[in-house]
Amino acid sequence: MTTPHLRRIRSFVRRPGRITPSQQRALQQLWPRYGVDYTERRIDFDHMFGRTAPRVLDIGFGDGEALLTMAANRPQADFLGVEVHEPGVGHLLVLLQRANLDNVRIVQHDVVDVIAHMLEPECLDTVNIFFPDPWPKKRHHKRRLIQPEFLSQLAGVMKPGALLHAATDWAPYAQYMLEVLDDSKDFAPADEGRLASDPLAARPPTKFERRGQRLGHQVADFYYLRKA
Ligand SMILES: C[S@@+](CC[C@H](N)C(=O)[O-])C[C@H]1O[C@@H](n2cnc3c(N)ncnc32)[C@H](O)[C@@H]1O
Repeated sequence: MTTPHLRRIRSFVRRPGRITPSQQRALQQLWPRYGVDYTERRIDFDHMFGRTAPRVLDIGFGDGEALLTMAANRPQADFLGVEVHEPGVGHLLVLLQRANLDNVRIVQHDVVDVIAHMLEPECLDTVNIFFPDPWPKKRHHKRRLIQPEFLSQLAGVMKPGALLHAATDWAPYAQYMLEVLDDSKDFAPADEGRLASDPLAARPPTKFERRGQRLGHQVADFYYLRKA
């Protein structure tokens, strides 16, 4: 008997987007330096970066400007950015070369698969999800990335005590994030002391945040720790 193939609901739709010539060049020339092809093999972070350092996963980095700023400000940490949108990947590659940073790698793929197949259990110190697509229409809410099942999968690849930092400018999504994070058995709110002492908790402004602010949206940041 064959199992029927169930199509997963994804948190994104593939938009072609316009790739500039410099992004195209970067995708061709810089991928070997910064890119990690999607495979169902676990990433060995120490081998990949040639050192043991705190590890940050940035989910849906968009144009990569905020990720670049964080990586430049925190050379002692290693960053894995995951993004599906090719022009964003190309843009970040250009920035990385310009800044000559070596503590960032990129996977261009759905993060749900990356978590399931490429990350070792309990390998991450920090996870950033900045301004995930809000999917405002009710019939699209099922596409939102932050959902109970996703959180429990994510918790599996975070070290006990690791920080999850999520931000949104969409008030109904903020409300929903708060509900699912508070209901999660895997996460507990981070206290002020922990945040003040964690250099990886600071967030630079992002492109989508600025867009939200232009529209008069309030920004909400959530800080939760993976329970031991
Ligand atoms: C609203 S944008 C925010 C981008 C950036 N973090 C910022 O604040 O400017 C959300 C990004 O998440 C990416 N994304 C959505 N679902 C994803 C998934 N399952 N895996 C990887 N990237 C995803 C989208 O392609 C998009 O670039």
